[in-house]
Amino acid sequence: MSKVKVFPHDKTVEVRDGVLFLAAVRAAKAALPSKCGGRGACGTCKLKVESTEKLEPLTKTETRMLSVRQVQEGYRLGCQTKVKGDAVVTIPEDPLRRVIRMQLEAARGEEKGE
Ligand code: FES
Repeated sequence: MSKVKVFPHDKTVEVRDGVLFLAAVRAAKAALPSKCGGRGACGTCKLKVESTEKLEPLTKTETRMLSVRQVQEGYRLGCQTKVKGDAVVTIPEDPLRRVIRMQLEAARGEEKGE
């Protein structure tokens, strides 16, 4: 069994080695989009993985769906990568949600006269 800690939700779940990170994140009751249902076709299940053990090499699907920069930064597809040892994963903020959050924060700053 391995512990998977999920950020930014700050939740931890214990799962068997070999379980997909997508399933582990869901077991932790954290949200991770998966528009294609885990078939490796959408790329929405991207997450950054820091593991205590060496993960399996990138699958062909991951090589196709992730940029070189994302791979260098430790991103994997949750539907393609299996848990192998304790891990900390970070789910990136949705880009559209980030833009809305930044606009709301800017508007609140204007209201306060900042
Ligand atoms: S769920 Fe679509 S690529 Fe992983």
